Amino acid sequence: MVLEYSQTGQLAEITRRIIAPLQQDARIELHVETLRPVKPFPFPWGFLSFLDAFPESAHMVPPALQPLSLSGDEDFDLVILPYQVWFLAPSQPVTAFIKHPLARRLLQGKPVVTVIACRNMWMLAQEKMKGLLQACGARLLDNVVLVDPSPTLASLWTTPLWLLSGKKQPLRILPPAGVDAASIHAARRFGLALRDALRNDEERGSAPLLAGLGAVDSDPHLLFSEQAGTRSFYLWGKLLRAVGGPGEARRYPWLILYVIFLITLILTVVPVSLLVQTLTRPFRQRRFAALKQRFDQPSGSGRERMQQYEC
Ligand SMILES: Cc1cc2nc3c(=O)[nH]c(=O)nc-3n(C[C@H](O)[C@H](O)[C@H](O)COP(=O)(O)O)c2cc1C
Repeated sequence: MVLEYSQTGQLAEITRRIIAPLQQDARIELHVETLRPVKPFPFPWGFLSFLDAFPESAHMVPPALQPLSLSGDEDFDLVILPYQVWFLAPSQPVTAFIKHPLARRLLQGKPVVTVIACRNMWMLAQEKMKGLLQACGARLLDNVVLVDPSPTLASLWTTPLWLLSGKKQPLRILPPAGVDAASIHAARRFGLALRDALRNDEERGSAPLLAGLGAVDSDPHLLFSEQAGTRSFYLWGKLLRAVGGPGEARRYPWLILYVIFLITLILTVVPVSLLVQTLTRPFRQRRFAALKQRFDQPSGSGRERMQQYEC
């Protein structure tokens, strides 16, 4: 089974590249479960509706989904779980699926491959995802991560511009937002490797199926910003949830106050943090190497099987 939810089509396109080899194999039956929130999230987003999504995202409060096409009695060999990151947590529609009453029945004991496509801050979202999967009794075998290749200071602006305007490159002076076309194209290698693994029943074991394919290349230098952001989203989210529910006008003055705080943070703390990290990098190499190894797990950043699955 594979989940499907995407606003711009980016994650859907990556998912399509990965599942194509599985769909082309007559021995593999694939169920695509499309997630449809009862109240669809807008795209392009309005400025306030975009901000208004952070309290529930940070607190992982799931929105209602339209009924799933599954009964809960299905017995899948493998679950592919693509998700985007919203405010440093798994996106609300995907969180809603994993917190759905059927998810435990569907995922209990099942091997899961998570596929993340986001700007570049995903490490703590994956920690949250691991907790959600653990609560369902699922076995996380692999994690694939595709990120926007632009520098952090550029994508901090290009991503919101994309999400608010609906255009990947509304201004020529800025790089295009989103995961680059070459990385999306090359994501097919993961599908080819999954197809081969399924043919050999390797999903029944506990070893990753996508090792050696450059599945993840984590950057622990972003961890400090992620930790600060998570704390801030959580605390302000608590305040906003106390003021009102999603979409309620009572929240708006607080959201505007928060955005002023956030922009100040992005203009001051983020560049200073990035500068401090760059300057102190030589003294913290060992710690970063350990963190990188941790966040690259389970699939790892090795590329030794790339030639075998070149596409
Ligand atoms: C409300 C919202 C919050 C987001 N927050 C983050 C984030 O914290 N970290 C990140 O790397 N990307 C973030 N993104 C970018 C998404 O992860 C994703 O790349 C983008 O929305 C395109 O996804 P799509 O496949 O649904 O179109 C956010 C997007 C939205 C809509």
